[in-house]
Amino acid sequence: MATPSAPSAIVRPVLAGDIEAVAAFMASLWPDGTLAEHREEARAIIAGRPRSTLPLTLFVAEAAGRVVGFVEVGLRSHADGCDPVRPCGFVEGWWVEPEQRRRGVGRLLLARAEVWAQEQGCTEMASDTWADNEVSQRVHAALGFAVVDRCVNFRKALRPADAG
Ligand SMILES: CC(C)(COP(=O)(O)OP(=O)(O)OC[C@H]1O[C@@H](n2cnc3c(N)ncnc32)[C@H](O)[C@@H]1OP(=O)(O)O)[C@@H](O)C(=O)NCCC(=O)NCCS
Repeated sequence: MATPSAPSAIVRPVLAGDIEAVAAFMASLWPDGTLAEHREEARAIIAGRPRSTLPLTLFVAEAAGRVVGFVEVGLRSHADGCDPVRPCGFVEGWWVEPEQRRRGVGRLLLARAEVWAQEQGCTEMASDTWADNEVSQRVHAALGFAVVDRCVNFRKALRPADAG
């Protein structure tokens, strides 16, 4: 799966020693969570106790002896645009540190995530990204994903009904 310009990066399952690096990357990708929460998430996945009921795992990319990116991939029972009768692989998180981007590391991570999903019996891979994340949309398109849906999420607080 590596392109001719791919770096000498390798992709491997996450290890306990990667927790700090992965948690820091997660905090950059998902700033709503604290570093401590991301550490706990990574720890739980390594221990085989992910927050999800379906399988969820992490792979990291290592270059020059350093972790430079990760992909978090899981199964979802259903994803927009995918066959609803079987689970599909889902890219939950995908991050390469800025200095290492555009060198094929993201491609290597995704390829490993896809192999994992196939090993789980999946025939489809799904993902999502924010509407304003144009780079991510371009990368998804470049690596074979097609847009199946665009949606706007709403929220409304419900007030307790008046007593009496
Ligand atoms: C998405 C991300 C992981 C891709 O990692 P990467 O290592 O830069 O990706 P690659 O170098 O393997 O790029 C794969 C292909 O995507 C396309 N691509 C990558 N970066 C691009 C950019 N900035 N603009 C346009 N196309 C781009 C290219 O076609 C590229 O292949 P090529 O270099 O052979 O032409 C990285 O951009 C990232 O961490 N972004 C911030 C987090 C994020 O948005 N994650 C995705 C949503 S969860």
